[in-house]
Amino acid sequence: MTKNTTDIDIGQFRKADHPIEPIFWQRWSPRAMSGAPISDAELMTMLEAARWAPSSYNSQPWRFLYAKRGSANWDTFFGLLTGGNPKWCSNAAVLIVIVARDFLDAIKAPAITHMFDAGAAWANFANQGARMGLVVHGVQGFDYAKAKAALGVPDDYTICAMVAVGRPGPLDKLESSFHEREKPNPRKPIAEWAYEGRFRAG
Ligand SMILES: Cc1cc2nc3c(=O)[nH]c(=O)nc-3n(C[C@H](O)[C@H](O)[C@H](O)COP(=O)(O)O)c2cc1C
Repeated sequence: MTKNTTDIDIGQFRKADHPIEPIFWQRWSPRAMSGAPISDAELMTMLEAARWAPSSYNSQPWRFLYAKRGSANWDTFFGLLTGGNPKWCSNAAVLIVIVARDFLDAIKAPAITHMFDAGAAWANFANQGARMGLVVHGVQGFDYAKAKAALGVPDDYTICAMVAVGRPGPLDKLESSFHEREKPNPRKPIAEWAYEGRFRAG
């Protein structure tokens, strides 16, 4: 039986320097997807995980707009993708556009952290999906202005990112130009981005 690209030993590619819950280094972003659907229950479980993300003033400013492959909305969402993304997203089961409201009703002021909060929701969503054995892949390569118009996103919402969700697939589901990258990538050491005290250049 052909192996899915998720059937690899992630520990051969990644090693945490300090003890953490394994999900944090085991989640990665494959592109090979089988084209099979995911169930509504699976999607709701992932959205439920997103739901419990923390946010400033508990404002929960994120909105997840989604389209299932084969549904009436699919072509609109798929048509937003740019660059090489349509080539591998064509086998996704669900495409999502995450947007976040930029105004905080609680204090009647612009929301400074709305994209930060939406990012927390996305991380919960992605980690939950990875635990369920699904592909969950963030996408920046799409037409943001077109998304705003095509999906009727109001002016007080910022378009944050798209996400492709699907069932894992074998490497031959992926165009050859993506094969080399179809593996977990490393991370910078903590010392490069966490400083005690003041900011340090470099
Ligand atoms: C917000 C966001 C946007 C991304 N945009 C794209 C994209 O447009 N195309 C793509 O192939 N991968 C995209 N990625 C995947 C990243 O390259 C990937 O998450 C990063 O290299 C870290 O790898 P990992 O997710 O496997 O740990 C995106 C990821 C995020 C979180």
